[in-house]
Amino acid sequence: ATERTALFLFFGGTGDLAYRKLYPSLFNLYRKGNLRTHFAVVGTSRQAMDHEKFRTAVKKSLADTGNRVESKEVTDFASHFYYQAHDVTDTAHYAVVKDLLDKLDKKYKLQGNRIFYLSMAPQFFGTIAHDLKTQGLMSTNKGAFNRLVIEKPFGRDYDSAKQLNDALSESFDENQIFRIDHYLGKEMIQNIEAIRFGNTLVESLWNNRYIDNIQVTLSEKLGVEERASYYDNSGALRDMVQNHIMQIVSLLAMEQPVAFTDTDIRAEKVKALRSLRVYNVAAAATNFVRGQYGAIDDQPDYRHEDNVPNDSTTETFVAGKLLFDNYRWSGTPFYVRTGKMLADKFTRVDVVFKRPLVDIFAFPQSKSTPLAANVLTIFVEPHAGFSLQLNAKTNDTGFQTEPIKLDYLVDAQKSKKTPEPYERLLHDVLKGDGTNFSSWPEVAYAWKFVDQIRRVWDLQEPNFPNYTPHSMGPASAEELIQRDHREWIYRL
Ligand code: BG6
Repeated sequence: ATERTALFLFFGGTGDLAYRKLYPSLFNLYRKGNLRTHFAVVGTSRQAMDHEKFRTAVKKSLADTGNRVESKEVTDFASHFYYQAHDVTDTAHYAVVKDLLDKLDKKYKLQGNRIFYLSMAPQFFGTIAHDLKTQGLMSTNKGAFNRLVIEKPFGRDYDSAKQLNDALSESFDENQIFRIDHYLGKEMIQNIEAIRFGNTLVESLWNNRYIDNIQVTLSEKLGVEERASYYDNSGALRDMVQNHIMQIVSLLAMEQPVAFTDTDIRAEKVKALRSLRVYNVAAAATNFVRGQYGAIDDQPDYRHEDNVPNDSTTETFVAGKLLFDNYRWSGTPFYVRTGKMLADKFTRVDVVFKRPLVDIFAFPQSKSTPLAANVLTIFVEPHAGFSLQLNAKTNDTGFQTEPIKLDYLVDAQKSKKTPEPYERLLHDVLKGDGTNFSSWPEVAYAWKFVDQIRRVWDLQEPNFPNYTPHSMGPASAEELIQRDHREWIYRL
């Protein structure tokens, strides 16, 4: 592994995400040698704490994620952590943080490389970016990098996203901004490019002549849990469709990039999103449906979850149809769906091919079952793998066909070694590779698409709750696809 040199400054450094994902991921990078001697981590939040207490909390987070806290490796790693209480709205206070950064820069010979990670409420992103620059926290060393990493949500519609982006752009250039979409850090999402562009068999058929439709399902088993204060203001459309689903769809829909670089890939994703049809009011109303989960047994319905108003119209389920107006996809819809409190926790993509134009087996043997469609399934989670459904002859003296499957599942041992999304993404930030982050134009096009649906929904009072927990959503999600004489490949 190549050792990287950087100082990390985490805003929201005592938050849940930091302890559960970010520090354990940094530790993995440390164990692998991507971080060794020349790094330091500063955590900030409003809370008062000394370095030692912070290190203890970091060690605990490592223990909670399965590491042995007594080991020398953990102690050495934690010794690179520092804490500074900080109020992000107090401009004068940035000077205190700056002094600490400069001191650590010298101590660990960090060459001025800085990564600012905003793991906190988005309303402060603009102020923080502004003060980082004006208060001199961004390094001015020649050849050093300053990178800004931000968590979602990136705005709540196009206008607010644009405002946020304008604010960030005053201090950071686009190539210094890393917008996290943790789905882009998932092994099998990254595999979309490999399976498409590494296989003649796949890419030569990857268009509207051979593909009938593509289905993307992000299904969650849990309800809103403790996140209602965020989720009830967001809903499934903003929470999952605008970001994760749009990113997955753009990887599936894009043209072949000139080369496997962040600039080339982003250019193709943006181009794909530009040809995504933005619906007018009537089309948005017919092509998207929403749902909210009801009660089951002793579990309350969504409206009676903690911190949810009992007349909430927030959707916990979305299904929709996306159309690209370009040569490759015209006439081939992408169906997407996501929701909470569904049958199971999984993510998958089903690519449904057209049936053969002529079924020579249908005649004269009238008994033969019709040929099934070929389906390529990409299993993203919980199991990683592919499955390809083909038609083959049944194993007997007659001549019947039946669908069979070629399956490839990543075995459990390999799966265990798969790096967590956050480990990959932090590594990418250290390398300065923006491939697996959302660029501003992508975010902007995604919002423009989603805003139209929101606009229509906000005009109409939904009839909620409308789906049973542990189902695959409301009946309208079935109707949406059946109307086109198609079916969801994954069904209960
Ligand atoms: C997050 C959403 O972005 O993704 C959550 O805010 C959702 O609501 C989560 O539960 C799902 O991520 P994963 O990796 O568990 O599929």
